[in-house]
Amino acid sequence: MERTILRARVLTFHRTPQGVRDEGAYTYLEDGAITIEEGLVTALGDYAATATVGARVVDHRPHLILPGFIDTHVHYVQSQILASYAGSLLEWLETYTFLEEQKFAEPDHAARIAACFFDELARHGTTTAATYGSMHAASVDAFFAEAERRDLRMICGKVMMDREAPDALRDTAQSAHDDSKALIERWHGRGRGLYAITPRFAITSTPAQLEAAGALLSAYPDCYLQTHLGENAAEIRYSLELYPMARDYTGIYESFDLLGPKTLLGHCIHLTEREVGLLAETRSVAVFCPTSNLFLGSGLFDRTRLQTAGVRIGLATDVGGGTNFGLLRTLDEGYKVLQLRGERMDPFQSFHMATRGNAEALGLADRIGSIAAGMEADLVVLDASATPAMTLRMETVTTLAEELFLIQTLGDDRSVVETYGAGRPLKSASAFPRASR
Ligand code: GUN
Ligand code: ZN
Repeated sequence: MERTILRARVLTFHRTPQGVRDEGAYTYLEDGAITIEEGLVTALGDYAATATVGARVVDHRPHLILPGFIDTHVHYVQSQILASYAGSLLEWLETYTFLEEQKFAEPDHAARIAACFFDELARHGTTTAATYGSMHAASVDAFFAEAERRDLRMICGKVMMDREAPDALRDTAQSAHDDSKALIERWHGRGRGLYAITPRFAITSTPAQLEAAGALLSAYPDCYLQTHLGENAAEIRYSLELYPMARDYTGIYESFDLLGPKTLLGHCIHLTEREVGLLAETRSVAVFCPTSNLFLGSGLFDRTRLQTAGVRIGLATDVGGGTNFGLLRTLDEGYKVLQLRGERMDPFQSFHMATRGNAEALGLADRIGSIAAGMEADLVVLDASATPAMTLRMETVTTLAEELFLIQTLGDDRSVVETYGAGRPLKSASAFPRASR
């Protein structure tokens, strides 16, 4: 059995840090050794105290290894429309998104974009993502087939949408139910794949379809449910026109039993007190998508308000409304959003959120998001001196907190030296740029 040891500085979190001096929240090893066997971490310790005989040692010094980044909301089918000029959400959906997603009727296109998407994730240090496909079941088949090839822990679902979309993108309540069920049977729990029941949002689903989504969730309670909530004023207004009996936007999902601990709700920017209370009570997850919220002018996520109310929070890129595949740029813009709200997020909290925090949001903290014996060997190797400006700034850095903040603020895919999925190098193995198949 092959044993690999990664040697580097290592940082992994045990819980949410309560400030930069909260050393009990994490383990930091100046000269660490991560032992990997058959895709799992089997030991973490000081290099000097680690048995290396018979092992293959990969020396990543002076870089920093963290658990692989986790993205809790991203649309792989929008990989070719990020950076599309639009005023706001509904215009962006109609102008670009609903055209783009029609291309996924073609399985070869889905396979090519899935491969490109996974290459991008690897280049940016992301090892798990809760992902939206298009309405085509084949888009999800292509996604999971590629995830399986790379042995990645990935979440995906077929978008359910039976109204307010072009004909070519509309399913029906019944066909969406049946297609989703078949995909769940095929992919949920196969290898490292997990399924998310995915009604796009209230506007594009009839009551019959949301009812079908609720039936699926109750039949398959291990699956996730992912959708959008409270992103934009026009979206909220139109949702309530289409569901006139609902008390508020969250009330629509509530009435179809779609809320709960496995429910991931993208955006959650504009919510009433009742809605915030309902999210906390149901243990649903509010997903912060800073680059998207800024790019589409959707608004400023109120992390403190949600946290104070006891709402679970995730962090995500939301490509292609979001403008970057990576968690580093996402953390940086998230930091700036919180600055505008007069809130702080210290660098330990940031990197906790991108790793263990997001693993907790997905209910997967026993498998991913930290580095310890028994955890899946999904890792990112970060270089704080990846560019001339970073090297110059590093000359004045004296603490780990400063280094992390520098990586978050100035770093991007160039700071990702390597990404490991189940112990295998992914970034150096990815073919970029990828030719058409
Ligand atoms: N609301 C419904 N669909 C979408 C989408 O694809 N992106 C974003 N940002 N919001 C949505
Ligand atoms: Zn989204």
